[in-house]
Amino acid sequence: MAQHTSTYSKIISPEEYNRIMTNEHLYIALADKSIKDFVEKEVTGKTNPEVIEIGCGPARITPLFLQIPNIHLTAIDYDLDFIDHAKKILKPYDSRVKAINADVSTYVHPRPVDVFYSEGFHHHVQKGEVVNKYLTNVYSQLKNGGAYILGDENLSEYTSSEDRLIKVIVWYAHIISNAKKSGFNYLAQEEAKTLLDDLYENYDDEALKSKEQIDLVLNWVDKIDETSSENVSEATLLAKNFLEILKQKRNLKKIGDTTIDLSRGDFKVSDSVFRKEVQGIGFKVEKVERIGPSKDVGGLYVYLLRK
Ligand SMILES: C[S@@+](CC[C@H](N)C(=O)[O-])C[C@H]1O[C@@H](n2cnc3c(N)ncnc32)[C@H](O)[C@@H]1O
Repeated sequence: MAQHTSTYSKIISPEEYNRIMTNEHLYIALADKSIKDFVEKEVTGKTNPEVIEIGCGPARITPLFLQIPNIHLTAIDYDLDFIDHAKKILKPYDSRVKAINADVSTYVHPRPVDVFYSEGFHHHVQKGEVVNKYLTNVYSQLKNGGAYILGDENLSEYTSSEDRLIKVIVWYAHIISNAKKSGFNYLAQEEAKTLLDDLYENYDDEALKSKEQIDLVLNWVDKIDETSSENVSEATLLAKNFLEILKQKRNLKKIGDTTIDLSRGDFKVSDSVFRKEVQGIGFKVEKVERIGPSKDVGGLYVYLLRK
């Protein structure tokens, strides 16, 4: 299993990250809004509720949550350059928010917490012990009856680790193809890199990305996405063909460009796998909102997890 490190800002600049995720991604802004609505409901009527955003990155969504009256917010990320950028963005709100450079699996907040929330963070945490450690840390610092509102991308249900790869391809083909159609070529390229990271994580940890592989993804996504909207089993066959060709292009050499050599460490799962993970810690899945295409393709999920 590849070690996950705090290098996201070496892959994409804070400015570019915030811009493409908020303005160009097909579903992320909708999920941001849904997470905010969940958090707002949780804290309404509470005096100075203690709220923590985990894996905040360069504070892309933090200002949205500062629209909630009385919220007392702490935003945490272990990437120093992202946190430096977050501090700049959050300067005008100084009295109501603090950005902290810390690892969420060990961070200890000075007061019990009403609400934790995260967006697009959970699938970056290494599976097994590390994910359990962070979830346990969150659970133990929540007040009884407190909530963890978690937004993340989920794949459709899969039956094996090989089948998971196919679901990864079908999901990303949808996102990348739509980015291409809207002329968001940089987003398409970044999502193509993320797709490759997700295919190699926990499956072929020595494999590295190459420009040729990125072009291959960009060339295949349209036909996979067009097919998946009508006939998912056809799209599955195409995804299998794509995977075979990709395997022939396996690369073990760094190319000397951190934006391609480094991995984001993505490992996306399905709704049922996610539920087992959080229920194992003691959380109750109280509500879920799904945003996106058919369940057979995948989607953005926002969960209300109750302690
Ligand atoms: C995809 S970004 C999401 C950023 C932000 N939540 C958003 O929606 O724009 C994931 C973030 O999680 C951070 N991260 C991953 N593991 C972490 C950990 N163990 N502790 C703190 N931050 C972590 C990464 O540094 C990265 O900034």
